[in-house]
Amino acid sequence: MTATAQLPPGPRDMKVKQAMNMGYGLWQYLEKQQQTFGDYFTLRLPGQGPMVILSDPKAIKDVFSLRPDQYDASRTQLPMDVGEDNTVFLNQKPHQDSRKMIIPPLNTHRLKDRAGVMHDIVTEHLNAWQVGDEFNIPRLVGDITLDVICYTVFNLRRGDRKDTYKRLMLGWLLSACSDANFAVGSMIGAKRYRGMLNKAYLKRTRKGDFGNGRKGLFPWKQAIDLKVQLADMIRQDIRAIRARMDAGESHMLSVLARATDEDGNLLAEERVISETVGLLIGGHETSAATSAWFMLWLLKKPEVLQRIREEVKASIAAEGRFDPLKVAELPYLTACLNESQRLTPSAVGTVRWLTQDAQIGDWLIPAGNCVFPCIYLTQRNKSVYGDDAEEYRPQRWLENNKFGPNEYFPFGGGRRACVGMNQARQQLRIIFAEFARRVRFSSIHDGGANWPTPRQIGGQTEPDVGVIVKVEEIRPESADFPAADTATRVAQGA
Ligand code: HEM
Repeated sequence: MTATAQLPPGPRDMKVKQAMNMGYGLWQYLEKQQQTFGDYFTLRLPGQGPMVILSDPKAIKDVFSLRPDQYDASRTQLPMDVGEDNTVFLNQKPHQDSRKMIIPPLNTHRLKDRAGVMHDIVTEHLNAWQVGDEFNIPRLVGDITLDVICYTVFNLRRGDRKDTYKRLMLGWLLSACSDANFAVGSMIGAKRYRGMLNKAYLKRTRKGDFGNGRKGLFPWKQAIDLKVQLADMIRQDIRAIRARMDAGESHMLSVLARATDEDGNLLAEERVISETVGLLIGGHETSAATSAWFMLWLLKKPEVLQRIREEVKASIAAEGRFDPLKVAELPYLTACLNESQRLTPSAVGTVRWLTQDAQIGDWLIPAGNCVFPCIYLTQRNKSVYGDDAEEYRPQRWLENNKFGPNEYFPFGGGRRACVGMNQARQQLRIIFAEFARRVRFSSIHDGGANWPTPRQIGGQTEPDVGVIVKVEEIRPESADFPAADTATRVAQGA
């Protein structure tokens, strides 16, 4: 342990070079630094202070146990205008209060109610497919996710308003997450950049200037236009919800619009808008990136896909139907997704900017620096996962292994762990259960060929060229239902 606060060593490359290495070939770059410096090393990137990358489970435990006054979340490097009073940027009591507000509409009881609709949405997508159709998995799952968000956040399943929401959400997410916007944000500092974007958004909102929503000379132009338009729709909905004040409504916008602070006052409209767009960011690209890697593993390992298929079919045989709640709990499917998120997590790590010197594992890290529990490196640690740590082996999750929250944390940890974890996992398991059961895909990635390079998109790690798949066979919705079996047998004269 160090007695005086100091930063662990790290590469001496210029900041811009380190950032470029992080942008492309991120995982390999981190692995290389770990081989050189060990489980604690410091990276220096433009527009921010030094970042201490950690992959020692003991250090991760210390980070996730930090007291709320020991770090400043407003320094989070997210260069998107979510609104500065969003949960992600809040500290201490306001942060805890905010979580108390957003967690109930995401809790298990509500998720149970939503599982059926999630499955209906997936089914509608699959039923519209034809043999020969091609999809890019992260964009496809992103599209399904937006349908789920329209339902869970806005209580919209169909119609013009839903279509407009979807168009604006996708447009805003894509433009705000563009490489150009992230590059500007990292050059001038994410906090400063999103402050500038927010100021422009508020000014345009006051003037009622919605823009044309098209790209412009500057990368931020389209993102601001679309945020003004999207926020305006959300504002109209907040006002309608507040006029009704229907306590029976459980969609997330209604819960947020009716929530009150300690003095019993309704939250400011901008605050509700901020939390709402925060949920889009939280849920969209994360699920898209996670699904891209999961699909790659399944294309690489057809025997794993086959076993998932059999497990889902067995569940249908036992329940007499596709029961989305039962399917979302299937042990092998769960193990397969866990293993994918272990080896290829969408978030490479999570951040805490220290406000005080803090003992983190073997190092006393000085105040003002960032500590970064590295999900990617820690989850490949051989001392935790054994000599086969680099192998995709779902079975390890079924062998009575218990991996601690400082050893496996694709959704972060401690007081700031992801609030959408259960929803995301449920949704992904339902989607992949139906892919496995009903669809046969082909791809240039079959058998593990052409494994793509990881690349940062909107702060998430995704395959650089996506994951393109072609539908070779699509089975009917009721293919494995007991009634269909009977009908088939009758038709065959059995
Ligand atoms: C596969 C999908 C997802 C992944 C991999 C993921 C991952 C993460 C990670 C790594 C964090 C940072 C935690 C930390 O700092 O310790 C986080 C925070 C967060 N996530 Fe997720 N997430 C996913 C889906 C979702 C969904 C669906 C929602 C909303 C419905 C959501 C909402 C949030 C929010 C609001 C936070 C901030 C929590 C706080 O600061 O207290 N996420 N997520």
